[in-house]
Amino acid sequence: MKTIFSGIQPSGTITLGNYIGAMMQFIELQHDYHCYFSVVDQHAITVSQDRLELRKSIKSLAAMHIAIGIDPTKSTIFIQSEVPAHAQAGWMLQCVTYIGELERMTQFKDKSQGKDAVTAGLLTYPPLMAGDILLYNTDLVPVGDDQKQHIELTRDIAERFNKKYNDILTIPEIRISEVGARIMSLQEPTKKMSKSDPNKKATITLLDDPKQIEKKIKSAVTDSEGIVKYDKENKPGVANLLSIYSILGNISIKELEEKYEGVGYGQFKTDLAAVVVNAIKPIQERYYELIDSDELDQILDDGADRANKVASKMIKKMENAMGLGRKRKR
Ligand code: TYM
Repeated sequence: MKTIFSGIQPSGTITLGNYIGAMMQFIELQHDYHCYFSVVDQHAITVSQDRLELRKSIKSLAAMHIAIGIDPTKSTIFIQSEVPAHAQAGWMLQCVTYIGELERMTQFKDKSQGKDAVTAGLLTYPPLMAGDILLYNTDLVPVGDDQKQHIELTRDIAERFNKKYNDILTIPEIRISEVGARIMSLQEPTKKMSKSDPNKKATITLLDDPKQIEKKIKSAVTDSEGIVKYDKENKPGVANLLSIYSILGNISIKELEEKYEGVGYGQFKTDLAAVVVNAIKPIQERYYELIDSDELDQILDDGADRANKVASKMIKKMENAMGLGRKRKR
């Protein structure tokens, strides 16, 4: 069975973008792959975080993985900082990564732009991410469109390591969904929906209540044409709402265009809000059962144990390949 790894940062409440772009792929693929899903808290501290908020977000995100329907007896769900191999691999891989490559990352450029105090961690984030993936002999990485550049760099780093040292790292493939790979902000539909967006009206989180969801969708930016048609270039707001509706309502965009022909945005938005509320409701019910439970702690303890076993073996192999430490008999 092939292996999947994917990670999500606990840098705020999970959004519809994360759910549609990444997590729906996790649900779809979990039965056909050996899966590792990680709450990547070490990535979150590349920018400033409030420690209490971070702690809350870590557990919340872990609970959310189970609430959306990932079976923790089959997939390994764990917190990155509870598996020390990630930081170890991140360091070794930094030493086969060039500064020029890191400076070319668009995420680094976006996040550092206009700031005086940019942490070294923000720059060296991609080799840590490469470590996450490469530690588990990962074949496939399901993500949203925005992670493409990071995965391509992961492949380059792995190939370089294999060539320079020993051919021990599996070169991973990226997996991006056809629809929903980039869910856009409800307020600025040419920008991706992001959990760290300070404008709360721009995102729908999986913990929003029905009233909030309705309000946010009603105030989503569209245009003045009043025509429900998928045209990403000229009607990015409507196209984004159509994508969300199509995926969560399990109905094609073409059918939606026909359904709302001559109807206008009001009814379209009301129906979309109902579809979103319907999709999120069972997730929230399961989430609130889990969030303060011993069950969740048990799942995360088991997950860290399982991940530690696999990842520490790979660390030994990498250290050996690079000539670190002493040669041991066992
Ligand atoms: P993060 O935490 O920003 O996002 C988590 C996942 O959600 C996807 N995503 C989206 N998909 C569609 N539309 C959107 N608006 C949207 N916003 C986010 C992301 O593509 C991602 O799949 N660097 C990663 C975390 C990471 C990781 C890894 C991922 C660390 N190590 C190893 C895969 C493998 C990140 O910041 O994702």
